[in-house]
Formats: sequence, C-alpha cells, structure tokens
Amino acid sequence: MQPFAAPAEGIISLPGSKSQTNRALLCAALSEGTSRLSGVLYAEDTEAMLEAIVSFGAVVEEDRQNFEIEVTGIAGAPVFQELAINARQSGTTSRFLLPTLAAGNGRVTLDGDQELRARPFSEQIDALRDLGCEIEELDKRGGLPVVVSARGVERSEVEIAAATSSQFVSGLLLAAPLYSNGLKINLTSPAISRPYIELTVEVMRDFGVLVEQPDDSTYVVNPGHYRAAEVHIEPDASAASYFFAAAAITHGRVRITGLHSESRQGDIRFVDVLEQLGAKVVWGENYIEVEGDRIRGGTFDLRDFSDTTQTLAALAAFAENDIEITGVGFIRRKETDRIAAMRTELTKCGVEVKESEDGLIVRPNLWSLKGARVDTYNDHRMAMSMALLSLRIPRIEINDHECVNKTFPDFFSRLEELRPKAKSRENTVAVAAIDGPAGSGKSTVARLLATELKLPHFDTGAMYRAVAVAALRAEIDPDDQDATAELAEQTKIAIGDRTFIDEVDATDEIRTPEVDQLVSVVAANPKVRRVLVAQQRKWATELGGGVMEGRDIGTKVFPDAIFKAFLTAQPEVRARRRYGQSSIQTLGDVAEDIERRDQIDSTRSDSPLQVAPGAVVIDTSDLTVEQVVSELANMFRSVVED
Ligand code: DC
Repeated sequence: MQPFAAPAEGIISLPGSKSQTNRALLCAALSEGTSRLSGVLYAEDTEAMLEAIVSFGAVVEEDRQNFEIEVTGIAGAPVFQELAINARQSGTTSRFLLPTLAAGNGRVTLDGDQELRARPFSEQIDALRDLGCEIEELDKRGGLPVVVSARGVERSEVEIAAATSSQFVSGLLLAAPLYSNGLKINLTSPAISRPYIELTVEVMRDFGVLVEQPDDSTYVVNPGHYRAAEVHIEPDASAASYFFAAAAITHGRVRITGLHSESRQGDIRFVDVLEQLGAKVVWGENYIEVEGDRIRGGTFDLRDFSDTTQTLAALAAFAENDIEITGVGFIRRKETDRIAAMRTELTKCGVEVKESEDGLIVRPNLWSLKGARVDTYNDHRMAMSMALLSLRIPRIEINDHECVNKTFPDFFSRLEELRPKAKSRENTVAVAAIDGPAGSGKSTVARLLATELKLPHFDTGAMYRAVAVAALRAEIDPDDQDATAELAEQTKIAIGDRTFIDEVDATDEIRTPEVDQLVSVVAANPKVRRVLVAQQRKWATELGGGVMEGRDIGTKVFPDAIFKAFLTAQPEVRARRRYGQSSIQTLGDVAEDIERRDQIDSTRSDSPLQVAPGAVVIDTSDLTVEQVVSELANMFRSVVED
C-alpha cells in the first residue's frame, strides 16, 4: 500500500448494504409476485443468499451493472425433496435461512466455509428444537453443518438469548410469518446489535409483514404472507465507516452519497463517534460528509454497531489520546476473534493495544508507528480497517487482501478514488514540511530531498541554534525571555549550506554540546518562536516553497503545507546515530540527552513537537537515507505538479 501524500478528498457512492440486501432477497424470495431491488450489493455474502433462494425455487434476474435485481418469489415456505445449501462465509445467509428452511418441507443440509463452521449457532438451533424442529448437527454441537428435516412449525412461542448474535433473532423473525401459528419471541437477555433487529423489522414491513413489539424483550409476528415490493437498498454504512475514517485520519474531506440521518443502519452511528473525537460532520439530505480535524480520544460503547470496532481501532492509532472500545466482547466469535486479531496486527505496526473483557484499549504513540506485513484472518474487516493505517504509514502490506470480496470486492479501488490529485505549483507555497525528533534522520534526509527536488532547503533548527549561540556570546540569561527574543530579532541569521550569524560563518559553532544543552530552552521561548516563525514563513513564501525541516513546520509554521512528513526512529537507533556524530559523549549520555530534549520539545506549551494532523509517519530505523529520500520525493511529486 502507498500512503496518501495529502488529505483524502472525494465524493463517492458505495455498494449497497449487505444487511439490507440479504434481508430483502429473502423476503422477496418468499413473496408472492416479482420484487425489484435497486442499489443491491453483489458480493460473496449476497451471492450465497442468491444461490440459496434460487435453489429452493425463487427466480432471479440480475442486472449487475446497474446493481439491480428482480426476484419472483415462491409465495410461502420452501418445499423441496433433498436440498444442500452452502452459505459460504455468510452469517446472515445461514442464520436467516435456518428458521425459514425449518418452516418448509423436505430434507436440507446447511453448511458453509470453515470460518462459518467455527461460528456459533447453538442458540438458534436450540430455539428451533424448542419449536419442534428436527435438526441434526453433523459435526459438532451448536455448529454447521446441520441437516434439517423440515415439516413446518406449529408451536408459536420461543425463548432465545441474543447476546451472541442478533442474527438468531432476525432469522426467527424473517421466518415467523411462515409458521402456521405465527411466533412470539421472548429474549432472555438484552440483544446486542439491536439496530440490526430493527432493520429486519423494517425490511419485513417493506414486504407487507408487521412485527409487534409489546415490550423491549418481546416480538410477535402473526402468520401471513410476504408481498412483492420495490425496494431501494441504502449504501452500506459499515463499508462507509472506512471512508469516513480515511477523512479523519488524513485530515481530509469525504462525502458519501445516499446516506443520511434517517438511515436504517445502526453503523451510521460511527459518524457520531468521529464527531465526538473532533471531526466535522455535515448531515445532508442525501449525503454525509466528514471533514477530518482532531482525533482526540475517549471511551466508546460499540455494542450496537460493533462492525465498526476495527475501523475505530485502526483510526485510534492516530489519536491524541487513548481510545477505549467497550461492549463488544461478542466479536471474538465473528469471522475471526476480531479483538485478538486487531491487537496482534496493530502491535506489528507499533501501536500499543490492550485487550479487555468486552473490547480493547488503543494507546496511540505516533512516534512508534511503522510499516508491517499484516494478516487478515480471512476477515474482510481486518483487510479494510488495516488498510487505513497505510494512508499515513509507508510499507504496510496486506496479506490475502481478496478477503474483502465477502462484502466489498471493489474496496481497494474505491479507496484509491480518494487519493489526492497533484496540484499545480503555481499559486501555492509548495512547502514539504519535515518534522521529527533528534536522530530521526530528518536533517540529512531534508537536505538531500531538497537537492533531489531542486528546491530550497530550510533548516529551522539551525535558526534556534544560532539564537542560542548569540545568547551565549552576549551572555544573556536564556531564562530571560524578553532579552533572548530581542536578541533573536536583532541577530541576522542566514541558513543554507552553511549557517551565518551576523554574516560570520557559525556552522560548526551551532553544533557544540554547549549549544545542544541550551537550544531547547531557547526554542521553548514563545517570543523567540514568534520572531523565527515569521522569518521562516517569509523566506519560504518569497522563494515559492521548499523543503522545510524542524519541529513545528507541519503543525504551526505551515499547517497547510502541500506535503507533511514526520520522521521517527526507535530511541536506541536515534541515540546510536547521534553518538556517531559526537566524539565527546558516551552512548549513554547521548541517549539521555536525546530523551531530555524529546521531553522538553514535545511537552513545551508553545508548538510542542507533535505529529501534524494528516502527516505521513516514517520510521527510518531500518531504512537507508536514500530509501527515505526517494520515498519522500515520490510522495511530494505525487501531489505537486511541475
Ligand atoms: O533539529 P535540531 O536538533 O537542529 O534543533 C535544535 C533545537 O531547536 C531542538 O531542541 C528543537 C528546536 N527546534 C524547534 O523547536 N523548532 C523548529 N522548527 C526547529 C528546531
């Protein structure tokens, strides 16, 4: 994956909701008459449902190009002799069909891929047995494959726990009108993912069947018939979460058409989470737009929209503070153990993650982010969420990325649509902002990058150093902020290949350990900063841009720089690099010195050293200077046209 060298930008339409497509396909298949569905999702999970409804007699006419489909239903419960249904990896297909098949007549085997076989079915199987259905597990208790010897359902009341999956309840609801006496469902535990049950109720209503809900834990469906309908499927809100997160992560702006505040999908609430974290959200009549701003941190209960857990965990890698996700213990039994998988893969990328009983805590440290080869566990949401890290971290590789086919075959090309286009250099100050701590390789890299791009190079650190030298010479107490600032104003500093103080070459003098000691104090002086930042802006503007390195270039001096990178390296590597440059200090001293300066630079109140919003983070620990330079040059060129 290649990082985005500038903020994500775009308006996109997304494929239809998987959840709504599979519910509508089943209702249409059981209806009398021909239904027309538009905005349909064509992906593995919906293929599984399509194949199944065709196998028991529904007639479908697909128009894949236009995302439409016509389904002529079988007008009631399915009747068959001997049937085998393969739900592949699809939880919805299998859990929606099992109670429906039980309402029919004949013998049917229901099976799926290995991942689906590993997922839980026992609550639903037990409920169906309580209703008098004959179900035989062929492999292990409570799992697929199963054989159902169907001969209709007469009993009309059942209890079920919905703490593992709301799909158990949705499946029973969808089948309920086919049961001779209807069905009353009593929930024995509060349902997770409740919005999905509400979606089921709404889709059933689209097809003419009403569900009563006398209280929070009871659903009642009378025996009845589905009627064919024309239904437009909403864009998939879970899929949308990745694109909204991309806007937040890259400090960009993304609009998704076809979604709105009245959406039936619970996962739309992910947008509220982004807003609480600091993003700006516009709720249009027929679109939602997210503009990235801050990513603060906080605790979020995702019980009702748990499919966005991985999206939020990936986003959290770039947050200012910890992000804790609660209420989602049950996602350990989805396509994979999503909590453990996220911890393992984020850890590879330098993100600290702690698992908790019902979720996880991400402790972001942007200085330690690094590229890695990421595993996806045959879980589409692992691939899509980990791809978000690649927007700002080079060298993220995703293994077996085709697993996105389950719900979103086009995912990667859609993400590409958001990649920023190159802008003309005219009328912009084309600054490449290179920030990072001591020993990150920033200075060497910035100098060579400027040469490579044939642009001016501005070493702003040399300016702070020059002021420190001037203060030493003038014997000014660096704690006297006004005196130091006045000195900064009066001293004539010139930076370039060499550094001049009042027109005298001071290139070597600005790098003595004495200056190293003093410069952090000088740089923490807001009045000195005001003077030097004004000069930096002026020079860069006069020269039409350039490569500017420092600590606050992306955050303060040029927050709208056309390209922003933050170079970092593991602390030991940084110490070793600096040690190589000094003949006086021991490695331990250098390490201590670096740590002390990091501490002062990153915690000072004025312009602390931080990763700028949207900046690409490059860990240079294992890279050569040439590699870093060529990577940065490519990124810069991708967003700046000559
Ligand atoms: O990059 P360097 O080591 O030459 O920087 C010298 C000091 O100046 C360092 O303590 C950080 C500070 N500095 C800063 O505060 N802001 C900048 N834009 C550049 C450097």
